[in-house]
Amino acid sequence: MTAPLPTLAAIEVPGPGTRPFVSVTGLTKRFSNGVTVLDDVSLDLARGDFVSLIGPSGCGKSTLLKLVSGLSPASGGGITVDGMTPENARELMSFIFQDATLLPWRTVIGNIVLGLELEGGTTRSQRRAKAVELLGLVGLSDVADHYPRQLSGGMKMRVSIARALATRPKLLLMDEPFGALDEMTRDHLNEELLRLREEQKWTALFVTHSVAEAVFLSTRVVVLQAGPGRIRRDIAIPFPFPRLPDLRSDPAYLDLVGQVSQALRDICIGPKGGET
Ligand SMILES: Nc1ncnc2c1ncn2[C@@H]1O[C@H](COP(=O)(O)OP(=O)(O)O)[C@@H](O)[C@H]1O
Ligand SMILES: [Mg+2]
Repeated sequence: MTAPLPTLAAIEVPGPGTRPFVSVTGLTKRFSNGVTVLDDVSLDLARGDFVSLIGPSGCGKSTLLKLVSGLSPASGGGITVDGMTPENARELMSFIFQDATLLPWRTVIGNIVLGLELEGGTTRSQRRAKAVELLGLVGLSDVADHYPRQLSGGMKMRVSIARALATRPKLLLMDEPFGALDEMTRDHLNEELLRLREEQKWTALFVTHSVAEAVFLSTRVVVLQAGPGRIRRDIAIPFPFPRLPDLRSDPAYLDLVGQVSQALRDICIGPKGGET
């Protein structure tokens, strides 16, 4: 008797669902001054991952984000975003920087519609409707017609997030977006960012200097070393989503914060406490 043919479901074919959403392989970046800033960096993000990059200043975190965004070319290795080169995947991505970079002569609404205007294909009233919806999501409906100078730092950052989300990105690249904010505002915006993630299901590559923030937000925390930039640790953060503020006092959370802090200390001063 011959063995029954396997059913389709029993045959494991790697389909599009198993392909990493972002794939960085053997990435090297050397600037024209001859300095190698990133050396053989490999990193995959699954769809829906929230990966934080943490490491000493100058280890190449911002450079890595710029390479993934297609703003800067790699010197070696490869990057794909949803199977495309970064240049071809530009429309899937939005960038959020620490400096909210709002146009001072435009109102809050005027700033949020900016990306949509550049993208084209929408009417003025469609753009305004989208901006009004996003302002509701980031809790700024009351200040739609204010100018940036009338807003606090936290409010400006919310506008910047709303502007980035207006074009419905699948990948959010964030370079220390909350670095200039006080701790309470930062905690609050962390919670809002996760709420937006639940609703909009984007994937995130996030740079921060705050270990606590990285562990609170992320599915994984990637620790880089400097000179040249390399990945030293890739630490899974297994807490389920949605994550609520109480997580910050959970012993398992505090333990992971301790582990990531120790990994950073090992990189900066060496495991025995001596300078490396
Ligand atoms: N355009 C450039 N030309 C030469 N060196 C650069 C350039 N941009 C960044 N660097 C250098 O690359 C290193 C990494 O920079 P960066 O990615 O900004 O680090 P991080 O964001 O981790 O602080 C730094 O030493 C920086 O001086
Ligand atoms: Mg940087």
